[in-house]
Amino acid sequence: MRLIVNSGGPQAIEEWRAQFRIFAPELDVVGWHENVDPATIDYALVWAPDTGRLATFPNLKLIISAGAGVDHILADPHLPRHLSIARMVTSRTQTEMAEYVLTSALMLTRNLKRVVDNQARRRWEIFDSLRVAADVRVGIMGLGHLGIASAQLLSRVGFPVSGWSRGASKLEGLPSYAGQAQFNDFLHQTDLLVCLLPATDATKGILNTATLSQLPRGASLINAGRGAHMVEQDIINALDSGHLHQAVLDVFEHEPLPESSPLWTHPGIIITPHCAAIPDRKERARHTALLIEANECGEPLPNIYDPQRGY
Ligand code: GLV
Repeated sequence: MRLIVNSGGPQAIEEWRAQFRIFAPELDVVGWHENVDPATIDYALVWAPDTGRLATFPNLKLIISAGAGVDHILADPHLPRHLSIARMVTSRTQTEMAEYVLTSALMLTRNLKRVVDNQARRRWEIFDSLRVAADVRVGIMGLGHLGIASAQLLSRVGFPVSGWSRGASKLEGLPSYAGQAQFNDFLHQTDLLVCLLPATDATKGILNTATLSQLPRGASLINAGRGAHMVEQDIINALDSGHLHQAVLDVFEHEPLPESSPLWTHPGIIITPHCAAIPDRKERARHTALLIEANECGEPLPNIYDPQRGY
């Protein structure tokens, strides 16, 4: 059985091999850059595969995304559409994302960006009224595994949490809104909007002026979904007008975020480099080995991309 890996570059392949020796010792692991007979490839673990390359593997059984999203794979116009794509969603992905959202929510609640900027200028500024978690109504867009884990953690810490999804998902024990019909109601009661939506045609550009203007004045934003969800200029405008207080952004239309981007230096924005939830190679090798074993046994696989839903 042969697995080809395109994640972390050539320098990561030895670590991938070492991890797979633990979880699937019989698996032959080759790097994307290695010259191998395409007919010998059974499985592919990939992040942003080169255009057309997956289509050259005639015996490929399953594509495994190295991340939770699949947009970087769907971008290939020659993608073999008959193959399933398994999304990399592990319990560790959920924990990492939930902790990222919690950290960001607490930073925004305590205005930490301003405190850190003040430090750089040796400025001792005391804020008039401190907010605690209970004062900040969090609204989570996207109620998949990552959205639900984040909602649960924030709720445990004391944030009033609600959720919104395009279809009728449920947030157990917490208020949830669904579809376009309830979108504005959801936004009206959200002080901190968290975007964890998948990137689909329907969610592209959803973080725009029309959406942001439905939030109460002074609301904040966390985007750990995809850069394609944001109209970046609309976010800058909303921050500049004071309608939006602050934003924590992990994903961008162009990554790495170009040095020339005005987002880097905006006083209302905290930038993180698409690092919200990236399980380590050990965890991803463990999960990949489970997927391959289940697929070989003809068992159903978790978190398979559904072209109808778009994620
Ligand atoms: C990262 O963005 C992922 O899709 O896992």
